This record gives sequence, C-alpha cells and structure tokens, in this order.
Amino acid sequence: MTRILDVAITHAAKPAVIERLLDAYLEELLGAGHRDYPYLSRYWSEPDRHPFVILADRRTAGFALVRDVEPDVLHEMSEFYVVPALRRQGVGRRAATLLFERFGGRWQLQFAVANARARSFWRFVVPAATETPNPNVLVHTMTWIASNPSTGTRTPDVSR
Ligand SMILES: CC(C)(COP(=O)(O)OP(=O)(O)OC[C@H]1O[C@@H](n2cnc3c(N)ncnc32)[C@H](O)[C@@H]1OP(=O)(O)O)[C@@H](O)C(=O)NCCC(=O)NCCS
Repeated sequence: MTRILDVAITHAAKPAVIERLLDAYLEELLGAGHRDYPYLSRYWSEPDRHPFVILADRRTAGFALVRDVEPDVLHEMSEFYVVPALRRQGVGRRAATLLFERFGGRWQLQFAVANARARSFWRFVVPAATETPNPNVLVHTMTWIASNPSTGTRTPDVSR
C-alpha cells in the first residue's frame, strides 16, 4: 500500500528553491528552450504576490505562485507544480487545498487547452469550478469560491 505523504506549504523566503524548479516547469508546459519567466522576482517585491514551496514529508515537492487580483477577495493560482517523482500521490490536491484554506475568498486560474492533465487535475480538485473558454487564446479560465470548492457553488466569471 502506498504511504500517504505529509503535505505542507511554506512561504518561500527567497527565490532560490523556486528558481531551481521553474526551468523544469516551463519546459514541461511550453517545451524545450522556454525559460523566461519575467514575473518571478516580483513575488518578493510586490505585496499582492505570494510564493510558496510545497513540501512532502518535509522535502521540496513543488511550488505555487499565488497573486491577489483583489486583496482578500479574488486570488489567482498563477503557477502550480509538483515534481514528477511525487505525482499521483495526492500532493497537488492537498497543497492546493491548503492554499485555498489559507487565503479564502474567490479564486481563478487559467490553463492551456492543450494541457489535458491540468484540466483533469483542477476538475478533480475543484469540481464545482466554472470553466470559461477564452475565444481568442487557447486557454480556459476556472473560477470558484475557496470555502466551497466541491459542492456546486458557482461564481460569476471574472477577467484576468
Ligand atoms: C498537474 C499536477 C500539479 C498534478 O499534481 P499531482 O500531485 O500529481 O496531483 P494529485 O496526485 O493530487 O492528483 C489528484 C487527481 O488529479 C487528477 N490528475 C492528476 N494528474 C493527472 C494526470 N496526469 N492525468 C489525468 N488526471 C490527473 C487525477 O484525478 C488525480 O487523482 P488520482 O491520482 O486518484 O487519479 C502535476 O502533474 C504537475 O505539476 N504538472 C505539470 C505542471 C502543470 O501542468 N501545472 C498546472 C498548470 S495550470
């Protein structure tokens, strides 16, 4: 039987850990050679951006970048990553839930239509989310309320 990992999120005091994971994340989502992420340093200089490291059994398991679209009201899961070796063990689901609990409020995220895994994951974690295709770009937007992600509560659609 697979052992259940102890999952936690911790605010990243410095960029180093996330920087190390970001290359692999970008390469996986965008393909080889995509390493430019101009927003990262802003997570340590702007109060409406929140960088987190995901831990599993106290070891680094991934990262999450959260942005306040409206502080205390609407948050965006801007980036979310679990390292390949620790996938399909509930790490992503648990980490996302901890973030929803920590911030509360309404949430949104965008994912590429081509990223079927992301869609499947977020639909599993937030089954009640409203999903809106963006007609001119190949991304979908999901929105939901943190306190009630699985019971069918719907939020109005919001733009990024
Ligand atoms: C998407 C991602 C965060 C999932 O992390 P994870 O820790 O493996 O997720 P979990 O183990 O909590 O999965 C929960 C459920 O989501 C769904 N899911 C997760 N990965 C999936 C996959 N590759 N294919 C289909 N469904 C998937 C399943 O329903 C899964 O439950 P199950 O394992 O009991 O079937 C991880 O694969 C990842 O970092 N991918 C690359 C980056 C990315 O796509 N980020 C999202 C950008 S919006």
